[in-house]
Amino acid sequence: MKRKTLSLQCAIILFCIVLSACRTGPQQPGLRQSTGMYQYDNETKSVGVRKTGPYYSDRQAVTGKNGMVASAHPEASRVGVDMLKAGGNAVDAAVAVQFALAVVYPGAGNVGGGGFMVYRDRSGQAYTLDFREKGPEKAQKDMYLDSAGNVIPSLSITGHLASGVPGSVDGMVEAHRRFGKLSWAQVLQPAIDLAEKGVVLTEREALGLNRTKKSFLAVNPDKRYFMKPDTTDWKTGELLIQTDLGQVLRRIQAQGRAGFYEGETARLLVAEMQRGGGIITENDLKNYHAIWRDPLVGTYRNYKIITMPPTSSGGVALLQLLRLVEPYPLRKWGWNSDSTVQVMIEAERRVYADRAKFLGDPDFVKVPVQELIDRNYLKNRWADFSFDRATDSKNVKGGNLPGYESLETTHFSVVDKDGNAVAITTTLNGGYGSRVVVGGAGFLMNNEMDDFSIKPGVPNMFGLIGNQANAVAPGKRMLSSMTPTIVEQEGKLYMVVGTPGGSTIITSVFQTILNVLDHGMTMQQSVNALKFHHQWLPDKTTFENGAFSDETIRKLQARGYILEQLTNSLGRMDCILFRPDGTLEGASDPRADNTSVGY
Ligand code: GLY
Repeated sequence: MKRKTLSLQCAIILFCIVLSACRTGPQQPGLRQSTGMYQYDNETKSVGVRKTGPYYSDRQAVTGKNGMVASAHPEASRVGVDMLKAGGNAVDAAVAVQFALAVVYPGAGNVGGGGFMVYRDRSGQAYTLDFREKGPEKAQKDMYLDSAGNVIPSLSITGHLASGVPGSVDGMVEAHRRFGKLSWAQVLQPAIDLAEKGVVLTEREALGLNRTKKSFLAVNPDKRYFMKPDTTDWKTGELLIQTDLGQVLRRIQAQGRAGFYEGETARLLVAEMQRGGGIITENDLKNYHAIWRDPLVGTYRNYKIITMPPTSSGGVALLQLLRLVEPYPLRKWGWNSDSTVQVMIEAERRVYADRAKFLGDPDFVKVPVQELIDRNYLKNRWADFSFDRATDSKNVKGGNLPGYESLETTHFSVVDKDGNAVAITTTLNGGYGSRVVVGGAGFLMNNEMDDFSIKPGVPNMFGLIGNQANAVAPGKRMLSSMTPTIVEQEGKLYMVVGTPGGSTIITSVFQTILNVLDHGMTMQQSVNALKFHHQWLPDKTTFENGAFSDETIRKLQARGYILEQLTNSLGRMDCILFRPDGTLEGASDPRADNTSVGY
């Protein structure tokens, strides 16, 4: 729909007439309605009755004194707490949760994907681990273009060429080697049990698998995986048994990283690639290593933010966003008032433009991290902003830095009794990744290659565009938006936050932090709160039904903001807050199966 060029007065009158006439219909007139480009593949239906006002639901928090795990699946959270009760620390629990999610939540949990971990130990020392997938050694800059230079549809999204070299298993091996207390065998065992004895399908997972069946069949000749023997639809409550995945997990349990990157699992993975025209080789697997990176640390007001540096753009973008809005009285203006939303949208517009211009794998391109989060630089980014009118994204470019030329992921949070805290976001990229199941091994491969900029200016599946900094190259990690983050208050652990959602991860984390720090919400209220998103291009603000009052909508539209109401939801937050009385508040998202378990 093209933007209308009505005079301001006419636009307001027209909007009000249409709004009141259609109040009861599903679509708010004057607004575009969309399932959104960010729709999760296994999005099924809204959970419970959606209220208008700030909250998606009135779900209550889970509390605990000794430990808390918040993840996308009740079984995975239970596994994590079992590890804590057995004397394990937050890292033991996190490793067990990562492997459990690979079994119980195949849409995003994984051994065939990658991710990022932020870890803050009880003394306040912070660490970040990058286990993002890498471009295979045979990857080429133009590998997703035809001879005329046009993008070949879906090639970076579905099938064997879509996969990067997986990083999750090495990431977990590294995290456990450095910080684990329980034995490796012990943290792997629950996932093995779940794979071999079976997991009871939730309604959401059953629907997700049914909706993906067609594409599973298209790329996998072997119908054993994620399918019933007669290929009829799954029903809620049926048991998904994954024997081959159980064997993979047993090899990882017995041999550590060699159980995945060498030997039988590697052989099966490479054979699968050769069968389907993929390019991942034995060498790629052998050479994959997770990397410990210096945490990205900054302040927002008097809070310390510990977050993920590149290869994720998430941490840089989050700090930019927080610092861009810092000078404004958001608390006084109120949650999602027109001024609050306007300033947040304009910050997001500028930050995503910077993301496209500057961000990429720091092992391949120089990423000006400190320059991008510098408060003077950010102050200048407001130079063309006016409260009277939306800035046009066409006129916004990545900033000028001195010296510079010019759905599906999952997150979980763990806190143990000693106050060690882990935030991990991990992914196959789209729901069920590339849909390629490794024959004989039963695990899904990622489609993370789509997170590269496959051609300058061409949007990826999340509508994000990129440039040279994020071009495809062998051995290079593709840029991410994952934003696992830990917040400190006066030197003490305060919040552990994160979410899936592709490009919307950054803005969901941003809002979830502001809801607590500026709008006085509890952690659960903040997770429940309705959300919105802007990413520079396309130049529009998408929002969950009810996120904006009629007044906010009217005022923003009068200033030229293009608003699009989503029929799906934003975020699947799994967060933990350390309350002043020492209680842990586990806040999992009511938008899906996410569950917190504490003790
Ligand atoms: N695959 C989504 C992300 O890494 O941002």
